[in-house]
Amino acid sequence: MQKVSQLRSPAFLVDLAAVKNNCKVMIEKCKSLGVQLRTNMKTHRTLQAGELMTGGTKRCLSVSTLAEAEFYADGGFDDITYAYPLSPDKVPQAAQLLIRLQNFHVLIDNHVVLDSLVANQPPQGKRWSVFLKVNCGYNRAGVSYDDPKGLELAKEIASKECLTFKGLYIHEGNAYNCAGVGKIKETTSEALTKLQIILNRLQEAGIECPVVGIGSTPSCSKPPDDLLKGITEFHPGNYVFYDYQQFLIGSCDISDIAVRVLTRVIGNYPDRGQILIDCGWTGLSLDSFGKLKTGYCFFEGHPNLKLVKMTQEIGIVEAAEGSLDVSLFPIGKLLKMIPYHACNTAYMHPVYYVVDGDSIVDKWIPNRGW
Ligand SMILES: Cc1ncc(COP(=O)(O)O)c(C=O)c1O
Repeated sequence: MQKVSQLRSPAFLVDLAAVKNNCKVMIEKCKSLGVQLRTNMKTHRTLQAGELMTGGTKRCLSVSTLAEAEFYADGGFDDITYAYPLSPDKVPQAAQLLIRLQNFHVLIDNHVVLDSLVANQPPQGKRWSVFLKVNCGYNRAGVSYDDPKGLELAKEIASKECLTFKGLYIHEGNAYNCAGVGKIKETTSEALTKLQIILNRLQEAGIECPVVGIGSTPSCSKPPDDLLKGITEFHPGNYVFYDYQQFLIGSCDISDIAVRVLTRVIGNYPDRGQILIDCGWTGLSLDSFGKLKTGYCFFEGHPNLKLVKMTQEIGIVEAAEGSLDVSLFPIGKLLKMIPYHACNTAYMHPVYYVVDGDSIVDKWIPNRGW
């Protein structure tokens, strides 16, 4: 069996036991809260992790690209939500997925796409399954929770012969600005209070809202104690791997982080107290923008190393505090980096090396493209 130390670096390592545990914990959490888990694939985009995240059912997932939706459909997965703002150019491709899958759902927040769905009527026996995307303060996609347009759109969706109004979808990315479990819960509670406003309006208007989904790894990992009763679905994704950002937010413990980037020392400069590693931004991504005390990542077992700069394939490392004894980091020495944002780092790698301790037990090939 191949060993981690034999890999060409940089290499993306996935700890299978940690992934399995993260999946199990989220499945159990959803069961105990009485919500359906519609797990998001965007972090890893592999069939293997998809199977673990869905508890082997291969049902009830969400994706952020049509390429992923097709990849999972090819892999025998079904009941897929395209959790991304749909645009008219993508409607014909989405229609193909609606035809081939038992259940395929889309998100909208405007009339342009609504008209496009109506213009691309599905064949007999099929209807577009449509979520209204709601903005509860994250200010990315979605109709604002207090905008009367939300109710108008929901009414229109519900009134069309070829559409089914499936419910409300909020990402709840607000929790990414938090530090600490208490703050995550508070922020998520605030977003859910906002969501209640549009939910009440729908109820008053007699519009059935079978699914109310919230997501983001912080809010689903540490949900508020008084989770709104109307919430029926959780759709987090990053929790499969977690990362240093999630640890800093308070979503997970450091031991829950399932991924590392393996790198080697390739240069040693005692005069300037720096070493070079064979991982630049193409192996890690530039996420974190170097704002950590330790730069762009955290070096496992070396809390005083700081990745201060990256070019395409090279990283420059020095001491976070004081000076670095570079003799401790000879050329060829292996280091493991805990990425700041696992989704972005994973996307940089064409192969994931799945590890059990020092042994490579599998290789996962992720889907790519849009
Ligand atoms: C629309 C949407 N839903 C769900 C998720 C999953 O959230 P997280 O990555 O926090 O698990 C994302 C992630 O960006 C998203 O954009």
